[in-house]
Order: sequence, then C-alpha cells, then structure tokens
Amino acid sequence: MLAWYQQHGRKHLPWQQQITPYRVWVSEIMLQQTQVTTVIPYYERFMQRFPDVFSLAQAEQDEVLHLWTGLGYYARGRNLHACAKQVVEQYQGEFPQDLEALADLPGIGRSTAAAIASISMGMRAAIMDGNVKRVLTRFFAIEGWPGQTSVNKELWQLAESLTPEHSFREYTQVMMDLGATLCTRSKPACGICPLQPHCAGYASGEPTQYPHSKPK
Ligand code: ADE
Repeated sequence: MLAWYQQHGRKHLPWQQQITPYRVWVSEIMLQQTQVTTVIPYYERFMQRFPDVFSLAQAEQDEVLHLWTGLGYYARGRNLHACAKQVVEQYQGEFPQDLEALADLPGIGRSTAAAIASISMGMRAAIMDGNVKRVLTRFFAIEGWPGQTSVNKELWQLAESLTPEHSFREYTQVMMDLGATLCTRSKPACGICPLQPHCAGYASGEPTQYPHSKPK
C-alpha cells in the first residue's frame, strides 16, 4: 500500500502543503461528502478569506455559508463555524491533541478526528470513513451490514490493528485514495489494484457485493 502511495497517491493537494490542524480540518470537512476535484477551488477561496481559526471564528455565519454555496450539505458549513468558535473559546485557538476531545467538536466525529490527528498531529489513529469501510469489507469479504453494531465494531478493530506504527499519515491517505479512486462502489478497478492478490472480495468473483446493504 505504501509503495503504491509513493507511485500513485495524491501528494500535491492544497491541504497537503503547509500542513496544520486547521488546514487539514477544513479539508476533511469539505471532503466528507464531496470529491477532491470539486473541493479544491472552494478550499482555495476559503483559505484566502479565512487563513486561520481566529478569522473563521470572528466571521459572520452568512459569509461562511456564502463561501460554502455549491458544496452542499450546509450543516457542514454551520458546524465548521461553530467548531472554530469553540476551538477559540475553549482551546485558545489550538485544536486539542486528543482524539476524544477532537471527536466531541461540532461536525468532527471519530473518523474525522482520527484523520486530523494522523495527518496533522503525528498521532497514530485509525480512520473509518465510507471509502475505508468499502475497502475493508471487500478485502476481508466481511458478511453482514456495516451499519450493524457488531459489524461496525469488527471494522473498527480491523482498522485499528491495520494502522501501522510508522507512516500512518501516508497509510491514512492511501486508504482514502484507494477507496475513492480504485475501490469504487459500482466499478472497482481490481485489475490495477495493489490489494487484488490478497483480496477476498475479488476472489469471491463479485467484489461489489461488499459492503452488504441493509437487510430488509
Ligand atoms: N475524503 C475524506 N478525507 C479525504 C482525504 N484526506 N483525501 C481524499 N479523500 C478524502
């Protein structure tokens, strides 16, 4: 995976330059339901106007949402603003270097907290967004619906145990990139996937049956 990342991973995205918790946080929120190519121009404009958490916290909500126009899912924009205010008021403008405290902030949650921590804080932490869930359920041919508590728990345990001791920033990024670009929902590119030789979903002959959908 790490070798594939060196060759094919995305390493020149705007939020991968001058890495700070603030910059990574904004990118992760924008990327939650929106593709990288769509996010880039919004991200650039947002950073121009709000280069740090203080400028964002001081802004009027209307201006924040105006810059969000077109990205959709406006609750993300409102949460982003609320989170900036909380980071300034409660943490003097420094994102807490603690997974639980991060996950408690508006709009963040467990997986985004882990992404921020591993990408921008040098903390080993496992992520589990929709992309990663798809990669893992396929690779291990996990039966059951991931929305079920026991399956979700199994997935998180796998994600924890697979996260390496070193290079976890690259690992986090490559899992998301692989899920977004090769291991896609309906047309996975198994022919060029570095995981294919060991992928149980591929071996099953029908990788797209994973993750299983919600039982009726
Ligand atoms: N989706 C959520 N976070 C992401 C990231 N850092 N890179 C690519 N896709 C993502």
